[in-house]
Amino acid sequence: MFNIVIEDLHKTLNNKVVLDGVNLTINEGEAVVIIGQSGCGKSVLLKHIIGLMKPDKGAIYINGKDITNIPESELYELRKEIAMVFQNAALFDSMTVYKNVSFALYEHTNYKEEEIQKIAKEKLALVNLKNTENMNPAELSGGMRKRVGIARAIAMNPKLLLYDEPTTGLDPITSDVINELIIRTNKELKMTSIVVTHDMTSAYKIADRIAMLYKGKIIGIDIPQNIKNTDNPIIHQFVNGLANGPIKEN
Ligand SMILES: Nc1ncnc2c1ncn2[C@@H]1O[C@H](COP(=O)(O)OP(=O)(O)OP(=O)(O)O)[C@@H](O)[C@H]1O
Ligand SMILES: [Mg+2]
Repeated sequence: MFNIVIEDLHKTLNNKVVLDGVNLTINEGEAVVIIGQSGCGKSVLLKHIIGLMKPDKGAIYINGKDITNIPESELYELRKEIAMVFQNAALFDSMTVYKNVSFALYEHTNYKEEEIQKIAKEKLALVNLKNTENMNPAELSGGMRKRVGIARAIAMNPKLLLYDEPTTGLDPITSDVINELIIRTNKELKMTSIVVTHDMTSAYKIADRIAMLYKGKIIGIDIPQNIKNTDNPIIHQFVNGLANGPIKEN
């Protein structure tokens, strides 16, 4: 079982109300895509789910347990089952690709060296990055960095995988490779996935359901087909990238 129930989540940062009562339920095995304007709080929401930020009010139940309110030691255990692919890949620049991917395995498991090497190789092959183990992050292209970030995130076989803008800034083909990869981790490796993106091509392709965050709330959540044909004017404007409509600047 791995389900997430976000209940009435509030967060103010620098006197700005960022989350204003977020309610969202994600079922086991689901791929939910969160869309919304730049600066609307998507990354902040993910950081709450992984426990890096604490809400001012509200709860996040993971398997029935409110993670906003558990001891650090329990959170530490839970984090072994949750991984995040950060918006900027956030690789350790002074470590090789191999060290980046295997970091958590050295940190959190008692696996033998050979076992860790085998897992790291396997995960790198999965993201089409064979034979890059000894490269440094500085030697990688943006798309390669994102894929190393994904390999690192799936190294521990997490049950929940959070992706923050996995395809932003990549060419359409590389983006699609990443989309396929996200679908594969979700469907084949059975990892529940939450993907933040404003790339609608990716969103439609990856999502079981798409949720829109607007003015601190989830204003709609539905299957891609229904989001495409929505009669909510805010969602309609956003998914069709229209300059004119009800959406106001942040
Ligand atoms: N650590 C922080 N301290 C103060 N304010 C923050 C912090 N992190 C985010 N914010 C503010 O919260 C708001 C939402 O930021 P967030 O990064 O979640 O946006 P986003 O939806 O992910 O945007 P983008 O699509 O550009 O990545 C912004 O106004 C930002 O300035
Ligand atoms: Mg963001």
